[in-house]
Amino acid sequence: MKGLVCLLLLLETFVCVVQHQVDGGLNENEISQQLRSEDGGQNPPQTDTLRDEASTDSQQNYHLCFTDIHAALRELTATVTEQRVNIRELTATVTEQKTNIRELTTTVTEQKGNIRELTATVTEQKGNIRELTATVTEQKANNRELTANIRELTATVTEQKGNIRELTATVTEQKGNIRELTATVTEQKGNIRELTATVTEQKANIRALETRLREQQTFVLEELNKKNEEMSNLTLGQVELRKENRDREIAFSASLMQSGSGEIGPFTAEITLTYRNVFTNIGNAYNPITGVFTAPLKGAYMFRVSLYGHGGTPATVTIDKNGERTVVAHDIQAQDRLNSSNGVVLILEVGDVVYVRLWSGNRIFDSENNHSTFSGFLLFPLR
Ligand SMILES: *[C@@H]1O[C@H](CO)[C@@H](O)[C@H](O)[C@H]1NC(C)=O
Ligand SMILES: *[C@@H]1O[C@H](CO)[C@@H](O)[C@H](O)[C@H]1NC(C)=O
Ligand SMILES: *[C@@H]1O[C@H](CO)[C@@H](O)[C@H](O)[C@H]1NC(C)=O
Repeated sequence: MKGLVCLLLLLETFVCVVQHQVDGGLNENEISQQLRSEDGGQNPPQTDTLRDEASTDSQQNYHLCFTDIHAALRELTATVTEQRVNIRELTATVTEQKTNIRELTTTVTEQKGNIRELTATVTEQKGNIRELTATVTEQKANNRELTANIRELTATVTEQKGNIRELTATVTEQKGNIRELTATVTEQKGNIRELTATVTEQKANIRALETRLREQQTFVLEELNKKNEEMSNLTLGQVELRKENRDREIAFSASLMQSGSGEIGPFTAEITLTYRNVFTNIGNAYNPITGVFTAPLKGAYMFRVSLYGHGGTPATVTIDKNGERTVVAHDIQAQDRLNSSNGVVLILEVGDVVYVRLWSGNRIFDSENNHSTFSGFLLFPLR
């Protein structure tokens, strides 16, 4: 708009200047003359300024202007009108462009938000990439380890291949052995068939033997039953024998002193010694009060006597049966100790009596040590 206004002002000024020059005295002829001289190439010094001021086209326009200024003005007016239309159009375009710019501004603001978001995303992705890089580094280390392991495994595999080759050889060998064994087994099967036949035969034999055995068992059982009866009879006999034997359980043994110690004798007359410290008295045939043994049944009896004493006085005892002497035990020493013993087997009838006599003027000694003893027992009974 401003440009157009300026152009219009310029045109007005130009028209005024031209008017002024026309009014200033130069007539048409003078001007034509001047123009002609210019066309002839002879430039007089006073026209140099003019020639410098305008180009050849300008000179032509000049010529047109001079010829029809009003036409030019009309043209200009038309141009101005045209330009006004253009200006309106431009104004509309500018308004439109402003709208576009506003829209673009909105779009830019929006894009900035998007860019910010993208920047955040990128930052985040960078973190992820850093993590991934660390993971990749780690994986590389793992890969290195795996490579080493693979190398080891490859070595092992190579080794195993060798082993497998060896095993294959062994297997081939074993196959040969198996073939041999199969042959042996076939052979053995034949043997087994033969043995089976033999076994079948033997079974028949065994069956026959079993029958015979059963017959024999029956016989043996019968015999056993007979023997059992005999045994029962024998057992009954044993019970009787045991009862008899219990009657024959006769044995005794005793020493003189029941307690303390001391000398017995010497006495002016012979006495029967009473052995009061009883060790055993099975069957109660010995009487420790009287010192007399009475035979409960007829039999062979064994009697023994031992004595002990001190020197200075003789020690003499006899084993008497029913008032008769049988054996003597005797010792005599001037000093120190003395000792003697004797024994006898006697056949006694039921009621016969046996005892020990200390002779007159003799002395024996006894103590807790049981030096002086009298013993007797039944050897076996007699009918
Ligand atoms: C067993 O004893 C009874 C009667 O004493 C007698 O009949 C039987 O024959 C005896 N048995 C034998 C096997 O001696
Ligand atoms: C038994 O007496 C004799 C002498 O007659 C003597 O030599 C012996 O030592 C005595 N024995 C005991 C155990 O006293
Ligand atoms: C003598 O006999 C008594 C009674 O049986 C016994 O306690 C004691 O030990 C015996 N003495 C010896 C030395 O055997």
